[in-house]
Amino acid sequence: MRGITIKEILAKSKVDEEVTLRGWVRTRRGNKHLSFIALNDGSTFQNLQVVADHPKFEEDLLKQITSGASLEVEGKIVASSGTQNIELQADKITVLGTCDPDEYPIQPKKHSLEFLRENAHLRFRTATFGAVFRIRHAVSYAIHNYFNKNGFYYFHSPIITASDAEGAGEMFRVTTLDAENPPRTEDGKIDYSEDFFGKETNLTVSGQLEGELAATALGKIYTFGPTFRAENSNTTRHLAEFWMIEPEMAFYDLQDDMELAEDFTKSIINYVLDNCMEDLEFLSKRLQEEEKVMKQEDQSMELIEKLRFVVENDFEKISYTEAFNILRNSKPNKKKRFQYPIDEWGVDLQSEHERYLVEKKFQKPVIIYDYPKDIKAFYMRQNDDGKTVAAMDVLFPQIGEVIGGSQREERLDKLEQRMDEMNIPKEEMSWYLDTRRFGTVVHSGFGLGFERMVLFVTGMGNIRDVIPFPRTPKNARF
Ligand code: 4AD
Ligand code: MG
Repeated sequence: MRGITIKEILAKSKVDEEVTLRGWVRTRRGNKHLSFIALNDGSTFQNLQVVADHPKFEEDLLKQITSGASLEVEGKIVASSGTQNIELQADKITVLGTCDPDEYPIQPKKHSLEFLRENAHLRFRTATFGAVFRIRHAVSYAIHNYFNKNGFYYFHSPIITASDAEGAGEMFRVTTLDAENPPRTEDGKIDYSEDFFGKETNLTVSGQLEGELAATALGKIYTFGPTFRAENSNTTRHLAEFWMIEPEMAFYDLQDDMELAEDFTKSIINYVLDNCMEDLEFLSKRLQEEEKVMKQEDQSMELIEKLRFVVENDFEKISYTEAFNILRNSKPNKKKRFQYPIDEWGVDLQSEHERYLVEKKFQKPVIIYDYPKDIKAFYMRQNDDGKTVAAMDVLFPQIGEVIGGSQREERLDKLEQRMDEMNIPKEEMSWYLDTRRFGTVVHSGFGLGFERMVLFVTGMGNIRDVIPFPRTPKNARF
């Protein structure tokens, strides 16, 4: 069955070679005597032009060659005056699956991304989503490659857990109990001892806590898996199910953590620049056309130029306090102030503040570190000032936060004290505290939002367009 792919043909086929190619029709044009069929098989952004001389084929067969139909073409590679220099002269065409043009939603024209989101099950057939999902694959490969080369072990943290790693309470419950009529304890609470797991469980919000157990034994590890947040955020940057990469390293302090974050993200971008140029060029052109249509005032840097700029320049590193002072003294816009006031030290930075810093003030990625402890998670290492923790966020232009991380609190007494202050049950987390009881060490880590990184490298505007089947509030159709 297996034939040759378009990628293989373009790489190594010679004129006169006989091939069998299978794929889906993108477009068909021609005249009474000839048809030019643009065939795509997903192996590359490029379509291969198939030329069918009408007298060689039955009229009924030719009628079935419409956009979306699947074909097997046997023929000969011939020279062409087109951009590819070669095309496929068909000797035999078999229609593997017909496609009714009146019903097929993906027409040979430009569809809006909103329309394609409604037809997410078929959008992989378009040039745009082909490019996006090939790049998504490349980013994922680049990540594994980077860690493997640098001595990190891929560690599988559980999807179902009994803990809330971020302490934010944004969890999807996992239970086998009858939702209408769950068993109750004497004081009226749901009795989870009757549950499948004998315990209240949820889908993981982060693999970090388990990752810390692994790092304090294996040295350097990373997780890469789906994570879940039941937050009701309807933005272009949030998903209820997203993929996260969480490296965790023993004997790394915050400085090391920040250096790793910068080197790691740059290596991903470099990989994409080195391996996905065709797809990037297409997406970049698409983006420029869109910006022209929307008549955007500040034309952002062209996509590929922007990616090169990020890898060639150092990230800006500033403390929360420095960021706070910059923001307090700046006017984002002549008429408008920030929607959220920034006049009291200790407030959390909103995305408008983060975007001001990366897009207006520094115009490059910014790492903010040493955040106020009251807006950060319990596990972060407390600084000597008593007010801040050794946390860091990496902010990217157009995206905002791509990474959140920290040096972890390795001192048992300080950690327990913080858990008490934040009402985090120590008994249930005794397994976690054991890392601090038995041979505790300085360690650090961070989490990269995979889809946010894919958004950045593809230049797409909405996170729903870089994950195959987006899960957002009220949306799980497929
Ligand atoms: O900042 P967050 O919540 O950090 C953690 O979960 C830590 N446990 C990470 C660690 O130190 N190991 O999430 C990390 C990153 C964010 O910077 C963001 O890029 C992404 O995950 N993220 C989301 N991406 C899409 N949709 C959401 N709802 C996201 N929430 C976080
Ligand atoms: Mg965060």
